Amino acid sequence: MTYNITVLDGDGIGPEICEGAVTVLRAVGKKFGHEFIITHMPIGGRAIDEEGTPLPEKTLKSCLASDSVLLGAVGGPKWDNLSGDARPEAGLLAIRKEMGLFTNIRPAKLWKNLAETSPLKSELVKGGVEITIVRELTGGIYFGRREKGFDEEGREFASDTEKYTREEIERVAKVACELAMKKKKKIISVDKANVLESSRLWRRVVHEYVSENFPEIDVEDMFIDNCAMQIVKNPARFDVVLTSNIFGDILSDEAAEVTGSIGMLASSSLGETKRGLYEPIHGSAPDIAGKDEANPIATILAAGMMLRDSFSLTAEHAAIEAAVQKVLDDGYRTADIMSEGMKKIGCKKMYGLIAHNIER
Ligand code: IPM
Ligand code: MN
Repeated sequence: MTYNITVLDGDGIGPEICEGAVTVLRAVGKKFGHEFIITHMPIGGRAIDEEGTPLPEKTLKSCLASDSVLLGAVGGPKWDNLSGDARPEAGLLAIRKEMGLFTNIRPAKLWKNLAETSPLKSELVKGGVEITIVRELTGGIYFGRREKGFDEEGREFASDTEKYTREEIERVAKVACELAMKKKKKIISVDKANVLESSRLWRRVVHEYVSENFPEIDVEDMFIDNCAMQIVKNPARFDVVLTSNIFGDILSDEAAEVTGSIGMLASSSLGETKRGLYEPIHGSAPDIAGKDEANPIATILAAGMMLRDSFSLTAEHAAIEAAVQKVLDDGYRTADIMSEGMKKIGCKKMYGLIAHNIER
């Protein structure tokens, strides 16, 4: 089969880690007899420099004409002083919105032989941790009304609005339910319903939707502040977590670190079709860009999720996961997951080894 993939390298370490994912895709293609046609397009800071906008028309067109999209990371100090809509991050938010990708799935698992890199005491993680965060991705405060200026008393102010509609909550709840049905039939729904009206709607709609459509699923509500604490206190009690855009953004960084490193966590963003956007959850790490120090694994795993979730290539997905586990078992580590007695390697060596394990 032939698959068209648009790759949005982005900024900072983006190009290096995408190069890693493309190298691994080529290895998968060779082994399983697929052709992956790759088209690189600019997004974020690079797009601002080249095209004057963080999401150029040609980039969006290419994404919408592809079978799926892989993204590195966007942003960096060079563009930090631009105003909101002109920033690299605006390009990422816009592509998610334009592609209609309202659900973001971020699975944080503890890899075998990587438990020692978790900052938590081993007794908290040794039984295994697997937290799947289902984050609403095209609503809430990241997309709500923004204002800035001076109020009647002449005081400078800025505001952002958290707003959710019933439909937005139901459609992401549906995805969480479908996932929970394949797992433990349990969802922890995270909100701040003791303070926010939008959270009270979130909570009510989630319960109504689940009891009507998936009565066998058990929903537990948890406040965001308590959840942030519980994830470090008892990460093993979490399975599927359903939450809003901003809370999911924050909790997924925390969950990633608990399971070892943010450099290991991939995500898939999907809407009504099989065309998705796959990316690592980490940022562009400008401090190590171009130094061959980045961990390419999150992006490689994101490419793996694409094969499974957009193209239904389950054996190919499993081959990528197994190849990653093998390099870890063989003791290879990038700097972020380095621990005593292991072999420290750079980005290129890491993805080269993973590709090699697939082709073997
Ligand atoms: C993420 C990132 C983005 C987000 C930024 C770069 C817009 O933090 O994917 O988690 O907030 O969604
Ligand atoms: Mn984030």
